[in-house]
Amino acid sequence: MSDDFDGTDELDRAAPPELTADEEALLNEMPTLTDVGQSRRTFLGQTIAGGLGMFALDLLALERSLAALAPSPEAVYAASAAENVVRVAFNVNGVTRTLDLDSRVVLLDALRERLRLTGSKKGCDQGQCGACTVLVDGRRVLSCLTLAATLDGREVTTIEGLANGDQLHPMQAAFIKYDAFQCGYCTPGQICSAVGMLEEARRGDVSHVTEDVAVTTTQLTDDQVRERMSGNICRCGAYPGIVAAIQEVHSGRQTAQTWRFVDEQQLARVRTEDANEAV
Ligand code: FES
Ligand code: FES
Repeated sequence: MSDDFDGTDELDRAAPPELTADEEALLNEMPTLTDVGQSRRTFLGQTIAGGLGMFALDLLALERSLAALAPSPEAVYAASAAENVVRVAFNVNGVTRTLDLDSRVVLLDALRERLRLTGSKKGCDQGQCGACTVLVDGRRVLSCLTLAATLDGREVTTIEGLANGDQLHPMQAAFIKYDAFQCGYCTPGQICSAVGMLEEARRGDVSHVTEDVAVTTTQLTDDQVRERMSGNICRCGAYPGIVAAIQEVHSGRQTAQTWRFVDEQQLARVRTEDANEAV
């Protein structure tokens, strides 16, 4: 069987199958299928003659044809009823991009649908999960709630723009080191948010759990990291790794809990102590 075999040629050449009276009646009641490129007689005949396997092959061929006809996102956008189109020129990951956008388009959709930067994720699409977090002029924003039209002349950094070539951003490397993700869906937003959050801490911005707002401290406790990152939800519950990764970048110190097996000397000492206590 050749690679491009889809079963339809062979069936088209075959003699029309014998139909029962019931099948003939059904054939005449069925709606016309000319919009999918086949007559209803051919369609039903193939279905009966070929059985379910051939039917599946036929649908597969049809699906391939329709997929080939599918327009690009740009064509869909151009054909859609865009209203109040505005021209937005902004810098995305170091490159100036100019887009003609419907004034209602949010940054997340502009990034994903127009610029094909799909690292920023759409979770809730209503400002609740943080999966869409990106940096605008170095500050973290929820791109699902940010109108792209407000960003003319601004600088946007997404997860794709954090690394320096092959060199990961320290926060990206720390997330990998601390296993700070499971499915990874929230991770781009977590990393962008963490980068923006540490910049806030460096500036001395207070947060909801800052005990004394008169005292400027730039050193965050784990609780402060948790509170400041509370807008980024992780459904996999990778929070311990996320906090550890952020704290390592924040403090520059190794924050992972470490453990090792006891050696023979330590074991002997413990046994001796136990034996002495028992006497
Ligand atoms: S997708 Fe933006 S906050 Fe959830
Ligand atoms: S790693 Fe799966 S949602 Fe966070």
